[in-house]
Amino acid sequence: MNYHSIAIDGPAGAGKSTVAKNLAKKLNYIYIDTGAMYRATTYKAISLGIDLTNPYAFGFLDQTRFIFRSGELYMDGVNMTMLNRQKEVADNVSLVSSHVPVRNKLVELQQAIAEKNNVVMDGRDIGTVVLKNADLKIFMTASVQVRAKRRYEELQALGSKQTLKELEEDIQRRDDYDSSRDYNPLKQAEDAIPIDTSDISIEEVTDLLYDKFMVKIKGDY
Ligand code: DC
Repeated sequence: MNYHSIAIDGPAGAGKSTVAKNLAKKLNYIYIDTGAMYRATTYKAISLGIDLTNPYAFGFLDQTRFIFRSGELYMDGVNMTMLNRQKEVADNVSLVSSHVPVRNKLVELQQAIAEKNNVVMDGRDIGTVVLKNADLKIFMTASVQVRAKRRYEELQALGSKQTLKELEEDIQRRDDYDSSRDYNPLKQAEDAIPIDTSDISIEEVTDLLYDKFMVKIKGDY
């Protein structure tokens, strides 16, 4: 059987996860939040007390289980949604996700999921590395201010106390780091469709992508 995939990349807070989640629901596909896998890896590394600067200290990934259920990540059976939002995780995830062995392992796991399922996957390197043959590739962006405000509202709903200013700085810092790392940096795939979501609603973006995807795979159904 031939499985379908949609790759959504872009910087933090561009609306990727909400759009990807909604789109997956509408299509009855699995939503894979790859950022959550990098965050969960960071969380586990912190819990184990390993040296986060050492790219070769992440061998525990070989014995770690990642499962997505209803759009949420479970690592070794534990729901990571809240744990992944901890400040210590946010502060260290760019460093951890810059390590080549970590990226190689997580990319391998992501590709294995897409081989056996219809997926909507979001992240930074999905269209360029993980799913080079995705049926549809999207590169979503929005201004730093709009992105920080969205993340602020999202985090408030989860009970976080981080301020808007802190989030703006955090987003800017991670943008710089994610785009300038040597290995698999955040960058638009040549065949990706760019979408700026600063002035359009998430619902509109979801509908737009749904229509584009349907046109693309028309012949397969
Ligand atoms: O999407 P997010 O903010 O939850 O991602 C967390 C971090 O993980 C972010 O700093 C970039 C990194 N990341 C990555 O390097 N590659 C991916 N495919 C997804 C996320």
